[in-house]
Amino acid sequence: MERNMDDMNFNILRLGHIEYFVDDLSRSRDFYVDAVGLFETERDERHVYLRAIEDREHHSMVLTQSGTPGVGAIGFRVSREEDLDQLARKFQARQLPMRWLQPWEKRGQGRTLQVQDPFGFPIEYYATKQPVESLLQQYHLHRHGCPTRLDHVNVLMPDAQAGYEWYTRELGFFCSEYTQSAPPDDHVYGAWLYRKPTTHDLAVMTGPGPTMHHAGFSLMEPMGVIRACDALAAAGYADNIERGPARHGISNALFVYVRDPDGNRFELYTGDYLTVDRDQPPKRWELDNPRRQSLWGPPPPRCWFEESMRVTSLATGEPQPVQAPTTRAIPLYVE
Ligand SMILES: [Fe+2]
Repeated sequence: MERNMDDMNFNILRLGHIEYFVDDLSRSRDFYVDAVGLFETERDERHVYLRAIEDREHHSMVLTQSGTPGVGAIGFRVSREEDLDQLARKFQARQLPMRWLQPWEKRGQGRTLQVQDPFGFPIEYYATKQPVESLLQQYHLHRHGCPTRLDHVNVLMPDAQAGYEWYTRELGFFCSEYTQSAPPDDHVYGAWLYRKPTTHDLAVMTGPGPTMHHAGFSLMEPMGVIRACDALAAAGYADNIERGPARHGISNALFVYVRDPDGNRFELYTGDYLTVDRDQPPKRWELDNPRRQSLWGPPPPRCWFEESMRVTSLATGEPQPVQAPTTRAIPLYVE
């Protein structure tokens, strides 16, 4: 994919945070802290700010009180304050919705640019967050699956090829793996895109959109997946374990998918690989290869394919309308 270098004068570093809407802040705080193993940095009347053990900044997950579950924001860290201004110019030139977050709206974040990407996703760009103590070597505090950091988000849009082109051409993302239909169609149906050198910060998949399928947290080691399931089940959340444990073909990760008390989905994930060498071609997967989803493990349940999270409109504050895929439907679910 040829890059548009005309106005790519910014550096997106990595995925930085995710904001989930929840109905009951206390219930969700207890779920994510006591049963999953995240840590509370701070809370206010409407938010609980959470972090994982490697985080050295204020939060990587925000729980926001709302009557409707879903996704409030997907946050990316950039390297310098000037990058925020360059990104603002880029989105403004394309007449995409954008605004600067007011300091009182979220705690712990420095100057933050909120934009709506061309597919309707609410994105936040920030250069700094309030520094906090890393809990990496506070081993006596590590619990359960022990999430180490927010690793990636996976989103659905009516045509993932368009998402692949926007994020690689215009925002400088690299592609580690992708699914493409056979010639002569040659259409991208999913792409795993990164800025930090792992398999992905952002995966785009063809499906009803804009919606978000899940956010993924990294775990320290494979047994963390089992310990996470044990802890969830023991705490009364066995039915919240939606899919797995199993191993993905794409990304090679060992994983389990979990639904929180509001039905928001997240993944606990470990075992992907470094992508530092830029001359490594992206790995192509055929659409009819079921090993791309599960290298091994039970087939995903129907809900994993058919349910995803609504995302918030920057303009209205309401959930974005969802459109069906504009390209040929993928045979996702096989009875
Ligand atoms: Fe994932």
